Amino acid sequence: MTVIRPATAADVPFLWDMLYEAIFVPPGQAAPPRSVLQDPRVDHYLRDFPSRPGDAGLIADTPQGPAGAAWHRRLPAHDPGYGFVRADVPEVTIALAPAFRGQGLGTKLLERLLADAAAAGHPGLSLSVQVRNRARHLYERLGFIRVAGLSPDDSAWTMWHPL
Ligand SMILES: CC(C)(COP(=O)(O)OP(=O)(O)OC[C@H]1O[C@@H](n2cnc3c(N)ncnc32)[C@H](O)[C@@H]1OP(=O)(O)O)[C@@H](O)C(=O)NCCC(=O)NCCS
Repeated sequence: MTVIRPATAADVPFLWDMLYEAIFVPPGQAAPPRSVLQDPRVDHYLRDFPSRPGDAGLIADTPQGPAGAAWHRRLPAHDPGYGFVRADVPEVTIALAPAFRGQGLGTKLLERLLADAAAAGHPGLSLSVQVRNRARHLYERLGFIRVAGLSPDDSAWTMWHPL
């Protein structure tokens, strides 16, 4: 049975693995080296997690071990994430290990993250998704809306959920 539970500091090594998995690799292209996680535009999604107000995450635990994670963090306007909307709106990262994709687990993780974020009083959640990433359909299905004009170019959408 799969259990969705809060992420703790002990899960951080697994969260780094999932941050790497969350990076979209277009079909036919090589995956980036793992050192991409040290890029300041990437590492701020997890550095010192969970320590700041607005940090929260969930792990999907299966009998085979952790399958995936979803978390959110507020990033400041002077160090915005790809999906930055407003400093008080946390940004979501979500990924599953490849073997666990397409079985409904991402939906469960994101539904719970949205419900928890609403209960915590956050004014919304945002994210960035490459237009070619199928994950966009999941976000639209769960109520994320495209924020016009915020994406740096048309290859990625900034989306937000009003909770
Ligand atoms: C995105 C992801 C977390 C969704 O979780 P999931 O358990 O696979 O999704 P579910 O089975 O609950 O829902 C199916 C939807 O997930 C998305 N999805 C399924 N497999 C996917 C994959 N390999 N890559 C990207 N999105 C995928 C699609 O939106 C799909 O809907 P569709 O069939 O209408 O296209 C998961 O597929 C994943 O980790 N993908 C790679 C990492 C990634 O793209 N992260 C998001 C970065 S913005």
